[in-house]
Amino acid sequence: MNEKKSSDSFTLTNNQTGDSFDFPILKGTVGPAVIDIRKLYADTGYFTYDPGFTSTGSCESRITFIDGENGILLYRGYPISDLAENSNFPEVCYLLLYGELPGPAEMKQFSHDITYHSMVNEQMNYFLRGFRRDAHPMAVMCGMVGALSAFYHDSTDINDIQHRLVSSHRMIAKMPTIAALAYKYTLGQPYVYPRNDLKYSENFLHMMFATPCEEHEVNPVIARAMDRILILHADHEQNASTSTVRLAGSSGANPFACVSAGIASLWGPAHGGANEAVLNMLEEIRTIENIPAFIERAKDKTDPFRLMGFGHRVYKNFDPRSQVMQRTCHEVLESLGIENEPLLDIALELERIALEDDYFIEKKLYPNVDFYSGLIFRALGIPTSMFTVLFAVARTVGWIAQWNEMVEDPTQKIGRPRQLYNGAKNRDYLPIENR
Ligand code: CMC
Repeated sequence: MNEKKSSDSFTLTNNQTGDSFDFPILKGTVGPAVIDIRKLYADTGYFTYDPGFTSTGSCESRITFIDGENGILLYRGYPISDLAENSNFPEVCYLLLYGELPGPAEMKQFSHDITYHSMVNEQMNYFLRGFRRDAHPMAVMCGMVGALSAFYHDSTDINDIQHRLVSSHRMIAKMPTIAALAYKYTLGQPYVYPRNDLKYSENFLHMMFATPCEEHEVNPVIARAMDRILILHADHEQNASTSTVRLAGSSGANPFACVSAGIASLWGPAHGGANEAVLNMLEEIRTIENIPAFIERAKDKTDPFRLMGFGHRVYKNFDPRSQVMQRTCHEVLESLGIENEPLLDIALELERIALEDDYFIEKKLYPNVDFYSGLIFRALGIPTSMFTVLFAVARTVGWIAQWNEMVEDPTQKIGRPRQLYNGAKNRDYLPIENR
């Protein structure tokens, strides 16, 4: 990658010694510039301290851009709302992976590749059977996706471009199949194999809801909504799970193992697990009258409760994904003829009250993408425990695009942060009888 060095530099002065050090400022195409501190330790003997990476750029990337102040999210330069409105998920996958929208022939080839990799090795069914029936599907996903590296050795050489290509296609293609397997397994129903005549989202819904005894007619409005949800979740810059994938991959680990690590990171309620947590919270609130009590709890510093689906590390104005999600939610409910969804009423009222509350205004806490996605999934008949799995299905392409970018970056090194050590100093071991 080319580093665009500007002539600007950042000078750091050590107040104790009076020594000054210059660090280059690197400018990207848009967004804040960064101070290149790679030589900081070598030059000064100091490390930086930034738990949670609130001020740290960990890599150079060309994939996704976020302007949190202005609620902008671009995939390869294209606004998310434009893609959600006009594109489809496989096309967005191509865009994220290869940097450009595909032409007709490229799209045909890519669709073919994704479609013809969607079955999983039959032996994986036996592996699946080792899980308890009541296992959380995210636990099953971590295991099954990590296990892909045990089934597809022919695409684990990260230095072989063909291996990287095939493993990318395999993961995008197989993720819906594995998610549907995990779902069917918890229900105790037979698995439904992928169908090559269906489009990506249709095929996923079919594998989830058909049975070998009965075909499932996929409602086109629902398939479109699913496609849109997948687009909205496909990538999101250097978030926790993507950084996990990059960090795991920085040691040279194979892509299946890295994506499995990403799934583990996504599972947490502060990240992808929030869509499940939002629904649980709305159910716990139960009635509109109870909302003020929950708002008070969210503001109480002695109570660990947070309003799930509110707040974001980067978006401090609005989350552009949540606006599309809210529209989609109404469309889905209307198309399914659901006129009375009490949880939607609670969600709308919660949003209204929170947006007028000083605490939320001051801290710039707005509904995020997870606030509405759970309501849509619920309307589609998807159980709460599967919500984060759907996020993982969508984010797989982002993880892979970012992983590929990292592997191809000649400046890439193994990720190895340092620390501020505050433990005991060197001390002598005492035999147990002397302690
Ligand atoms: N409810 C109540 N207070 C909150 C909330 C919330 N949802 N989110 C943040 N705050 C408060 C927090 O207590 C802190 O207050 P103070 O400055 O007085 O200590 C302040 O706002 C800043 O919060 P933070 O935790 O320092 O901010 P962060 O950038 O580290 O965390 C977050 C971002 C998304 C983890 C957090 O807002 C949160 O926990 N939200 C709820 C979970 C959620 O919806 N997560 C989904 C994120 S979007 C999808 C994704 O990316 O996976």
